[in-house]
Amino acid sequence: MPHDISVISMIAAGFVFAFFFGFVASRLGLPPLVGYLVAGILIGPQTPGFVGNREVASQLAEIGVMLLMFGVGLHFSVADLVAVRRVAIPGAIGQILLATAIGTAMAMAWGWTFGSGLVLGLSVSVASTVVLLKALDERNAVNSPNGRIAVGWLIVEDLAMVLALVLVPAFAEVMGGHAAEGAHGDAGDQGLFLTLGFTLLKMGAFVALALVVGPRVMPWLLRTVARTGSRELFTLATLAAAIGIAYGSAQLFGVSFALGAFFAGVVLNESELSHKAAANSLPLQDAFAVLFFVSVGMLFDPGVLLRAPLQVLGVAGLILVGKSLVAFGIVIVLGYPVSTAFIVSAALAQVGEFSFILAGLGITYQLLPAEGLNLILAGALVSITLNPLVFALADRACAWLRADPVGRRKINEFGAANLARLEADLEAVKEKVRAREAAHKTFTPEELVHRFPLFASLTAEQREVLILHFEPHTAQPGERIIRKGDVADAMYFIAEGEVEVAVGGRHFKLTAGDFFGEMALITGEPRSADVTALDFSKFATLSARDFRQFLKRYPEIRSRIASLAEERNAMNRSRPDEEEAKA
Ligand code: CMP
Repeated sequence: MPHDISVISMIAAGFVFAFFFGFVASRLGLPPLVGYLVAGILIGPQTPGFVGNREVASQLAEIGVMLLMFGVGLHFSVADLVAVRRVAIPGAIGQILLATAIGTAMAMAWGWTFGSGLVLGLSVSVASTVVLLKALDERNAVNSPNGRIAVGWLIVEDLAMVLALVLVPAFAEVMGGHAAEGAHGDAGDQGLFLTLGFTLLKMGAFVALALVVGPRVMPWLLRTVARTGSRELFTLATLAAAIGIAYGSAQLFGVSFALGAFFAGVVLNESELSHKAAANSLPLQDAFAVLFFVSVGMLFDPGVLLRAPLQVLGVAGLILVGKSLVAFGIVIVLGYPVSTAFIVSAALAQVGEFSFILAGLGITYQLLPAEGLNLILAGALVSITLNPLVFALADRACAWLRADPVGRRKINEFGAANLARLEADLEAVKEKVRAREAAHKTFTPEELVHRFPLFASLTAEQREVLILHFEPHTAQPGERIIRKGDVADAMYFIAEGEVEVAVGGRHFKLTAGDFFGEMALITGEPRSADVTALDFSKFATLSARDFRQFLKRYPEIRSRIASLAEERNAMNRSRPDEEEAKA
């Protein structure tokens, strides 16, 4: 081969195989991701035929995870997390502790050391965001209260895992592992707390930076880019933010790529353009998330099924049954409804990306035997494949509860008040977002042409860009908006209300759908008249600079505005008595 094409061949094989088997799976009535996993096993080193590059595959998968977490961040704000905190935080922590304890006990029963058991338990205690989101998305439940709880719960788990990733190397020595050759971070006893403190500090600095500086800078940047009207620049800005922030924060603060990307999304969440950013990054996100499943399949060694069938069963059982029961119990103990408990425990009865990362780390530090990763992979494969089935069971259970509202009233009523409160909190968050968007938004593209037929010749995209240039402006009755003789700074489009133009002792009314302030901007002379609001009015304004640029870009609109200005000017120059005689 003339040069290294391992990335190309991995992408090609990944997409082709994943597409083919995903399609077959869907024709067989199975979820496509089962097909992606099969594709991964087939192009993995354990099966004959083409063998993809695992290193490359896992890096591509990581991009998929980043884009996905970015997408989660775009739709999930800190306010949402605060709204579900009462169940998500204790739930996630409780589940990690209990699942880890069960896992450790099980592994020790196999004769493993405490340290090995702990890593195994920790690895399976955290679920996969990729799998969860695919499942929620498929049932259109990402935005439902139960979906929000599950996503919030997982984000807390992800945060906890960042800590675990730091703690494993730090504790490796204590728990009987050895820092592998070349692995750093083998902190001694005194270094342990230092490492921990330093990590927490860095994490705190990162979160603070992301939440304080980010929302001030990023939405502005995105808006500025969107106003250029270049779609490709906008997409690029989105991807640069997602992957750039993820990478940068991983390098600087030691957080995972996934968490960095999540915060990149959260930061842009504040922008009214977050939907557009989400839409633009979606195709790439889909494509790379598929490669995530392929890479899981590639890592899997089917031999483990023969070598250690009971242990595979144990791990799979822990993930599917153990974790579900734990989650179910926690939700109930926290006082939330049985239906929520069903959905949340189904959502979390699987493992994914973090488990592999953690297991890999365990192997590096010789805490986990190499077979541990195979067991976890087997458990992941089984639980991911069965997850749709688990969800279907949860749906069945919920339907059963609903089927007899009278007879099962007691069960249905349990926790309803707590859920209602949580729903109200989420609704309040949504309302706030809506209000913020409304405050910034002047028109939708449809309203724009409906109000101002002048813009009918613009394409949908051109209208959107124009709207991004508008600034909302309001006036009270009697408020002077333009003073005769002033220097022109903006152009006004009336969205609501009425204004009065006073010129040469005469008064003209302008109403919604009219515009004013064009004359001085076109001629470069001072304002020709006073303009006063007659009632509560709303305007969309264009700055002088934006207005001129707009006219330059659309000469046809320019000539229509100019001829109206000309008419108005002629009217103002004519003597009032002439006008009145005409009238
Ligand atoms: P400008 O001169 O920038 O500021 C005052 C605005 O009042 C002016 O632009 C026009 O938009 C508006 N205006 C002036 N004369 C008339 C008129 N006769 N009828 C309606 N609007 C007018």
